[in-house]
Amino acid sequence: SGFPSIVKNGLSKLGVPDGVLEVMFKWADAKQDYPKIPEAKGAISAIRSEAFFIPLYELFLTYGGIFRLTFGPKSFLIVSDPSIAKHILKDNSKSYSKGILAEILDFVMGKGLIPADGEIWRVRRRTIVPALHQKYVAAMIGLFGQATDRLCKKLDTAASDGEDVEMESLFSRLTLDIIGKAVFNYDFDSLTNDTGIVEAVYTVLREAEDRSVSPIPVWEIPIWKDISPRQKKVNAALKLINGTLNELIAICKRMVDEEELQFHEEYMNERDPSILHFLLASGDDVTSKQLRDDLMTMLIAGHETSAAVLTWTFYLLSKEPSALSKLQNEVDAVLGDRYPTIEDMKKLKYTTRVINESLRLYPQPPVLIRRSLGNDTLGKYPIKSGEDIFISVWNLHRSPHHWEDADKFNPERWPLDGPNPNETNQNFSYLPFGGGPRKCVGDMFATFETVVAVAMLVRRFNFQMALGAPPVEMTTGATIHTTQGLKMTVTRRIVPPIMPSLDTQLSEVDSLPS
Ligand code: HEM
Repeated sequence: SGFPSIVKNGLSKLGVPDGVLEVMFKWADAKQDYPKIPEAKGAISAIRSEAFFIPLYELFLTYGGIFRLTFGPKSFLIVSDPSIAKHILKDNSKSYSKGILAEILDFVMGKGLIPADGEIWRVRRRTIVPALHQKYVAAMIGLFGQATDRLCKKLDTAASDGEDVEMESLFSRLTLDIIGKAVFNYDFDSLTNDTGIVEAVYTVLREAEDRSVSPIPVWEIPIWKDISPRQKKVNAALKLINGTLNELIAICKRMVDEEELQFHEEYMNERDPSILHFLLASGDDVTSKQLRDDLMTMLIAGHETSAAVLTWTFYLLSKEPSALSKLQNEVDAVLGDRYPTIEDMKKLKYTTRVINESLRLYPQPPVLIRRSLGNDTLGKYPIKSGEDIFISVWNLHRSPHHWEDADKFNPERWPLDGPNPNETNQNFSYLPFGGGPRKCVGDMFATFETVVAVAMLVRRFNFQMALGAPPVEMTTGATIHTTQGLKMTVTRRIVPPIMPSLDTQLSEVDSLPS
């Protein structure tokens, strides 16, 4: 009975225009001679809750791996099935764009790598990916160590004073300091200072997050843009950030001009290993607006995501003291008080599993957004062009069909001597960094960043939920935040003597995260 839709899709793939197909197959559509995507009805109020991906989980259990959710004139397809996710993200990725996401993020990212589609995306991706080469990532590990050390000093003071700390905001500052240096060699120093630029970055970030969950795009109303105090503040923040970026680009251009430049594949300036420096040295021929869009995109992509991973990792560890002590044993043996190096990344196996498992339970972002550019078939269902699609990574990562004790934080579910889990070896049931051609370019960077931060922090301190801490609940912007922060009591560890690690000569060749 699905025959007409099979023929129709076949013709569509052969390049027959959609309009022609609509006319040809009208008779088949009229008879509803194809399976129809289940529709979640009466679910609209359920979606109003703060963390919108939670009710989507219940609906997934009721309606299955693909269903439609309708709000008045708008509707969305919610995908929670790994093979459909793989089809959209990888096998037929050319037929999908970033859709709503590009519209929401336009004011801050413009045509940067995350929202961009088509030819612009292809060209920018090919230019930017080489900047994150192995030697760059190795150099960044030193930066992760220094930045985490600053955070340790802050926690040390809190531990001495017996003051509880709100870790979520500290992690946000840690990862801002890191990504500023890593992307354009700028030290926000936000762990110690509250400068105007730091405030501007947060203003813009909050705005991006609010827009991504707001049902009505008030910011598009012409007069509103000019008189709303909030929009004025956002515009002022953007102006300050753009000015700063222009200055940094100019400084970097001068540095590159003065260099005896010999550009090659693993090119890196030791004084300024930033991505910006690489791009300018490579002769990246691009408008300053495009360059700024890409820098802003990487600043935002690499900031809140990593901060959220650290926040939820420490929350999970506070509930699983046995995992924390296992982690501490590994760090004591591998690192002692040394700063981590790239070689240590292969040896901090349990630490890596803790991050893998944290990313499973709290994927950042919890949903991926796409829009269909043509007719296609998802599972057994034909869909038309222009469908807005949410791939719920949250649902994939907690699916009872794929995971034993799906809600349990269990780093042991990934064998230490096995491969690092990724979307390929988990067949799209696990996609912490997305998959296909739009996969995260910072996956290795982010994995090492979070591994270094966790390792250094648990080496020096014990972490517990503070007495009388507010309950830890979720809310969403682009990433999963807590509603009231992560208030913890930090105490210094009584550090065991530093033993040279004995297992180094045994360390089998383990692949780096892909
Ligand atoms: C894309 C996750 C850190 C840069 C993505 C995507 C995910 C993701 C899921 C795919 C989005 C989609 O398909 O719609 C994460 C997580 C991170 C992290 C969980 C931290 C733990 C970073 C860092 C950078 C970065 C540090 C920059 C150095 C990007 C860029 C894209 C991207 C540029 C867009 C790639 C493209 O569309 O071609 N990230 N990311 N991310 N990420 Fe990350």
